[in-house]
Amino acid sequence: MTGSRIAIFGAGYAGLVTGACFAELGHSVTIRDIVPEKISALQGGAVPIYEPGLEELIERNRERLRYTLDAAEAVRDAELVFVCVDTPPTYSGDADLSRVWTVIEELPPSSERTILVMKSTVPVGTGEKVRAALDARGLDHVGYVSNPEFLAEGTALNDFLEPDRIVVGAFEEADAEAVARLHAGIDAPIVKADVASAEMIKLASNAFLSTRISFINEIANVCELVGADVVRVAEGIGLDHRLGPHFLRAGVGWGGSCYGKDASSLKQLAGNSGYHFQLLAAMIEVNELQRRRVISKLQKHLGSLRGTTVALLGLAFKPGTDDMRDAPSLVIASRLLAEGADVRTWDPIADARDRLVGARQCDSVLDAVTGADAAVIVTEWDELRSLASPETLGAMRRPLIIDGRNLLDPDDVRAAGFAYEGIGRASSALDLLPETAEPDLREPARED
Ligand code: UGA
Repeated sequence: MTGSRIAIFGAGYAGLVTGACFAELGHSVTIRDIVPEKISALQGGAVPIYEPGLEELIERNRERLRYTLDAAEAVRDAELVFVCVDTPPTYSGDADLSRVWTVIEELPPSSERTILVMKSTVPVGTGEKVRAALDARGLDHVGYVSNPEFLAEGTALNDFLEPDRIVVGAFEEADAEAVARLHAGIDAPIVKADVASAEMIKLASNAFLSTRISFINEIANVCELVGADVVRVAEGIGLDHRLGPHFLRAGVGWGGSCYGKDASSLKQLAGNSGYHFQLLAAMIEVNELQRRRVISKLQKHLGSLRGTTVALLGLAFKPGTDDMRDAPSLVIASRLLAEGADVRTWDPIADARDRLVGARQCDSVLDAVTGADAAVIVTEWDELRSLASPETLGAMRRPLIIDGRNLLDPDDVRAAGFAYEGIGRASSALDLLPETAEPDLREPARED
């Protein structure tokens, strides 16, 4: 098979993963970005983002990957041009498409047949507008396809090369076929749709996933009131084949660069079209409140948080990444600082020193919990599975673990001498700890 020639605009997360995976499938890929440091790093063999396996994939396919700052050079000879630029939210909550429009404007006039493929997440109706803009520029021979990405950080390569489905929305059947052919070698159903439906599949998928999480988080909150355990409940729900087991882990709420942005974009899209999407509005609010519940959990055990020391364990929005965009940790830390707590943070790779002024980032879990009145698991890093150790017990001022991801076994944690509170499960109070643990609890504050 001879591969196709592909240009990719945007050397961010989606662009690099898409480019590297298409190269792996045998295509020749030129990745273009406007940031000189990114391009020179890539040309020098360095990968500017963290994603497991990406560096190796790029290295293995380096013969088929080129990088440039020059839009015209990227597009020259390209049969398909992928748009992988970011679409952050504006102040109104709508998606900011300015980077997408810049790409359209930069497309050099050419008489060659090219297909513009939208990977970036865009509001429904964007394809129609781009089509009109292309026609207005005399680029009516340039095809347009919506081919949304479903890459989750940490598993992105697998998500691309072994996806559940490939969605292709096109105005012309031949363009849909051309994009589908690029994926030859991948065993997955291809969902062909009109452009608007393809755009909606992406927004609805993310909204549905985050709704599942907000739903199980609300079930968890009720579980706490009525004495049920959400972990068992989720297991029981998930075995129903109509519901499935995924995205039913209760916790301190969802985060990351996509869910909040896409939910808000879909809510605005509905609103701008005359529909009030109540469920989505509630789902977003539930998540906001879920993050803040950690504060009331701490207050329940410690009373006023002024002058207490709280260790926040995990800063990244999920394990396996250093990404802190819209991470629950940032909201929890800010609330704690506002309550007058002394905040320590720890994360194996994410660094919040610039963002969380007033909090102290520690290099080890032990350092973070030493002298602390509570340890809060915010991200379920593997390193935290052994948190309820004698070492931690000896180091903390008060042995309280708030398990924001239900990572630990409550019985084990209690047996190890800690008070424990998870999300949606029975909690145990500091004053109910066995006698033997009591002297430690009453010890005066240690010097840090
Ligand atoms: C998400 C989607 O999973 C991808 O399919 C999509 O392509 C991507 O957004 C995007 O639009 O680009 P990602 O943001 O990397 O991917 O993260 P997820 O793995 O979906 O997790 C998001 C958040 O939900 C994390 O904070 C995670 O801790 C939380 N989560 C996830 C829960 O609280 N409970 C769960 O059961 C699952």
